[in-house]
Amino acid sequence: MAAPPARARADYDYLIKLLLIGDSGVGKSCLLLRFSDGSFTTSFITTIGIDFKIRTIELDGKRIKLQIWDTAGQERFRTITTAYYRGAMGILLVYDVTDESSFNNIRNWIRNIEQHASDNVNKILVGNKADMDESKRVVPTSKGKALADEYGIKFLKRAKTNLNVEEVFFSIAKDIKQRLADTDTRAEHPAAIKINQTDPAAAANQAAQRSACCSS
Ligand code: GTP
Ligand code: MG
Repeated sequence: MAAPPARARADYDYLIKLLLIGDSGVGKSCLLLRFSDGSFTTSFITTIGIDFKIRTIELDGKRIKLQIWDTAGQERFRTITTAYYRGAMGILLVYDVTDESSFNNIRNWIRNIEQHASDNVNKILVGNKADMDESKRVVPTSKGKALADEYGIKFLKRAKTNLNVEEVFFSIAKDIKQRLADTDTRAEHPAAIKINQTDPAAAANQAAQRSACCSS
């Protein structure tokens, strides 16, 4: 009996790989956990090396499988985490609005992207912990917006509540899907997903789901 067409077997139309970067403690893992599991924790369990989560969303009638890699912000993991830049289609740059140095370091993170990621990678700047008391917020929204404008990237603020969580991921996913669709119509693109290809991250994902990070 003939095998069904590959498309019928697939559980998604596009696979999009995203990467979260930023200083340790800015809230990358919590942002991802909120998006993938809908939960939040105040306890801080620093990421060791790299972790990832999957969530499939729908955009314009297409199923988009988001494979989101969460990097450790700590310097000692930099060699491991930098290795993941190349495969990323989109990068979320996260800083903490109560921590000025995490904002100043965004320029260094962008330099890392320029050195290690693909030229056409999509980027978004996220000012995290916007729910914190005004007296603690040291990086005004205008500064975040100005930095994003300088680099020609999008900017969103977000808090531990659901504020902008969906928007952050949907916004970058939408831009990438558009880019892939545009490229697909012009030529066969290596980033375009071979639907019946084995997902290399599936096994790692099971391990990631067992991880206790932010789940308590
Ligand atoms: P590394 O894994 O070390 O790179 O850090 P990270 O960026 O993943 O930080 P993580 O998500 O673990 O969060 C660090 C701390 O910030 C935790 O105590 C969280 O509870 C807190 N936190 C994260 N997001 C928010 C937020 O939006 N608002 C507030 N108030 N706290 C947050
Ligand atoms: Mg983390």
